[in-house]
Amino acid sequence: MAQATMKRPAPPAIRQTKLLINNQWVDPVEGGSFDTYNPATGQVIAKVAAASAKDVDKAVQAARKALESSPWKTMDAADRGRLLYKLADLVEKEADELARMESLNAGKTINDSLADMQGVVNTLRYYAGWADKIEGRTVPVRGNFLSYTLRQPVGVVGQIIPWNFPLLMLAWKWGPALACGNTVVLKPAEQTPLTALRLGELAIEAGFPPGVVNILNGMGETTGAALVAHPDVDKIAFTGHVDTAKIIQKAAADTLKRVTFELGGKSPNVIFADADMEQAVAGAFHAIYFHGGQCCTAGSRLFVEDKIHQEFVERLAERAKERKIGDPLDPQTEQGPQVSKEQMDKILHYCDLGQKEGATLMTGGHRFGDKGFFVEPTIFDNVKDDMAIAKDEIFGPVVSVLPFKKVEEVIDRANRTYYGLAAAVWTRDIDKAHLFAREVKAGTVWVNCYHVVDATTPFGGFKMSGQGRENGEAALEHYTEIKTVTIKLK
Ligand code: NAI
Ligand code: MG
Repeated sequence: MAQATMKRPAPPAIRQTKLLINNQWVDPVEGGSFDTYNPATGQVIAKVAAASAKDVDKAVQAARKALESSPWKTMDAADRGRLLYKLADLVEKEADELARMESLNAGKTINDSLADMQGVVNTLRYYAGWADKIEGRTVPVRGNFLSYTLRQPVGVVGQIIPWNFPLLMLAWKWGPALACGNTVVLKPAEQTPLTALRLGELAIEAGFPPGVVNILNGMGETTGAALVAHPDVDKIAFTGHVDTAKIIQKAAADTLKRVTFELGGKSPNVIFADADMEQAVAGAFHAIYFHGGQCCTAGSRLFVEDKIHQEFVERLAERAKERKIGDPLDPQTEQGPQVSKEQMDKILHYCDLGQKEGATLMTGGHRFGDKGFFVEPTIFDNVKDDMAIAKDEIFGPVVSVLPFKKVEEVIDRANRTYYGLAAAVWTRDIDKAHLFAREVKAGTVWVNCYHVVDATTPFGGFKMSGQGRENGEAALEHYTEIKTVTIKLK
């Protein structure tokens, strides 16, 4: 593992740290704040305003008022789309600065942050196009009646997002919510509060009316929980840990809010002996180490057919040893820090546990350097299905290699998990590819590729990886209520 060295672009200026309520930047009622860090150094970069339940109430009231009055309520659907297009244009114009801010605060490599900004633009434009195409139907009912359906906004939506793709998750949440005419109270992750605030400024500049988007930073257990409990919030959309989703679902039961969840995974990545070896090694590497493994779809269970197992693991380990780790703002860097000390410690705990469980540590297993929150790319070989490193979401650069012999066997083992977010198969045999795609219980299946996610295709989980779908037309269903109108005819 080498230290990257090229010259880095300057870190961006931090302009905004307050709460956004009703298009005003305000201090919290009770004056709370928290520190946000640069995970590459562990140093504080800014103090950010933290919302209490009182601020949540103010934001929800603003969102409710915007939902039920002009100009948002009466705006032509096409004009809602134009606001989203405008926001996408502003993000595109500011992409470099936004990407640098994302890298500074989240530890993403600058190249990954730039790719995220393109994803944000694509998502906002995709949903901008939907705004005036969300239609009801006329329904052939029995009797002399005319029945038709209206698709109306769900209402005030609380959106709680994580730190691994801060702005992309914002776009996945705002895009469909706003295209459908909802209003939003967003709570970014406490680790990465900064880029969302810049988006708030851009949303005002784009012309979104007061109260349509509100942004409240703060802790999950306080700000997030207050949003979930608020009786005037109609829906919660959440991305994060499965245990947090359980807490949210229980709390949401009191007001019977709608909930959609995108949770993690322990995604199986299956390599058959007939795959293109070079491509499969590169693909398996990308599957686990993209963004230091901090990816809900990470290919963390790597099933490799017995016949090629040894060569495959050796080639993977060679690549891991060459990975350039370092300053995320340096364009040569391939892997930045983990987002926080908490995450680094969790990953290092699993590195120890894997060895205690008897798996073979091929490479990595330690912290990289002594400042910031870096972890070496790590490979455990000869992992058994019942080891914790094969079952738990580690959310770091740690892959468990599991040898297999037969197609039926690997499908069965791939499905032995509570999760079901993504899966991949590498083979030149079309029968194996289709069989695996049909039988694996996962919301996304890749064949001879990995991490290909697009604004246009539904994304979400089977089993405990989630409820509902984001992206594509599928997301619109979760941001509209269907109303049936029946008229008696003469
Ligand atoms: P988390 O689920 O605690 O945090 C995600 C978001 O939920 C944050 O905005 C947080 O403030 C909020 N939150 C936390 N507790 C809440 C509560 N009681 N009520 C309302 N909102 C609440 O995840 P965390 O602690 O950041 O990471 C822990 C693990 O979760 C990771 O190691 C990883 O395994 C998983 N994770 C999965 C993600 C995914 O993309 N599916 C993203 C981030 C984390
Ligand atoms: Mg948490």
